Amino acid sequence: MSHYYFDHNATSPVAPGVLQCLVDSIAEVSGNASSIHYYGQAAKRKLEGARRKLAGSLGCDPRELVFTSGGTESDNLAILGVGRKALRETGRAHVVTSAIEHPAVLNACTQLEREGAQLTVLPVDGVGRVEPGDVKRALRPDTCLVSIHHANNEIGTIEPVAKLAKAAREGGALFHTDAVQTVGRTPVDARVLGIDLMSIGGHKCGGPKGVGALYIRKGVELDAILHGGHHERDRRAGTENVPGAVALAAAISGGPDLWIGIAGLRDRLERGVLARVPGTRLNGDPSSRLSNTSNIAFDGIGGEAMVISLDLRGYAVSSGSACSSGAVEPSHVLLALGMDKQTARSCVRFSLGPGNTVEQVDGLIEAVADSVAHLRRVSPAPLTREFAHA
Ligand SMILES: Cc1ncc(COP(=O)(O)O)c(C=O)c1O
Repeated sequence: MSHYYFDHNATSPVAPGVLQCLVDSIAEVSGNASSIHYYGQAAKRKLEGARRKLAGSLGCDPRELVFTSGGTESDNLAILGVGRKALRETGRAHVVTSAIEHPAVLNACTQLEREGAQLTVLPVDGVGRVEPGDVKRALRPDTCLVSIHHANNEIGTIEPVAKLAKAAREGGALFHTDAVQTVGRTPVDARVLGIDLMSIGGHKCGGPKGVGALYIRKGVELDAILHGGHHERDRRAGTENVPGAVALAAAISGGPDLWIGIAGLRDRLERGVLARVPGTRLNGDPSSRLSNTSNIAFDGIGGEAMVISLDLRGYAVSSGSACSSGAVEPSHVLLALGMDKQTARSCVRFSLGPGNTVEQVDGLIEAVADSVAHLRRVSPAPLTREFAHA
């Protein structure tokens, strides 16, 4: 049986050009970028070349970028770094975030709360959008940071980040965005967005796992969260992952071209599934969504059962974010949209990527229709009134 991958928001395979780049630099770079000898300086040149290339893709200065181990570390560095500095200097720190952030943001905020900070978690509307007016109203004199993601990994909603950042900065707070699901798939310019900090990851856009970066606008100061040597201008200790940085820069500069056309495949999938399968409903913001993401509720069916059924037919999808699958509770993102628990448990996330084709999409539509028919046969449940009209 052939297998097809529709779970690119969990992770996307390394792009062929990026893989070559990674292999070449593993072979070429033997030195430590902190060493002053020939080998060290060769590694340093590679690292700084990667930093310049990444800065070119993001419209920022290379000195504004710190390489990290991925999106999770970048989120932690932004939130704990800014929050701990405020606590250390003023004894107070108030952070504003949204209810549908990735656990890397929410749990970093909770950790900061344990250390003495105060937290405001903003609600979202029914499609997952944060209101700039809510950010304005949440700001206080001691608000040091607002952290709202660029796009949601489960439902794909793209937040009005430029407006949210403006609201935060006008109120005197720094603005951080987790852009792990957007950077490298679509052009993102840090200056145009008007943000202060931005988390970037490698493995959602054709880069390797275990590497990422944090954009820190010139003039923004934070406390390091890893302590050791003086790497990354004292902002992140640890011997630099030079091949990872080179591959990250390659993935992000070449990524957006590879992701062109994915929206057409995603729309084909949605049209097919919604037309073929009764009792289905699309989640997320239809007017502002990641081009590859489709989150669909299937009335009366368990999302996990759908994932298993589709896997048995050769299609890899997800019932929520990969990081929370295995957990019994339904997704915090879907609950925050106002969904009841049963509906939230019925949702499946399809996330497409550069390897997908029209034929695969058509096969997936058939597999979804077959799976739903099978699951409704073995465990029949009447369509709820809400879905009967969907
Ligand atoms: C929005 C978002 N932020 C952060 C992360 C964590 O990134 P990483 O896996 O690179 O640590 C993910 C990955 O699932 C994500 O989707």
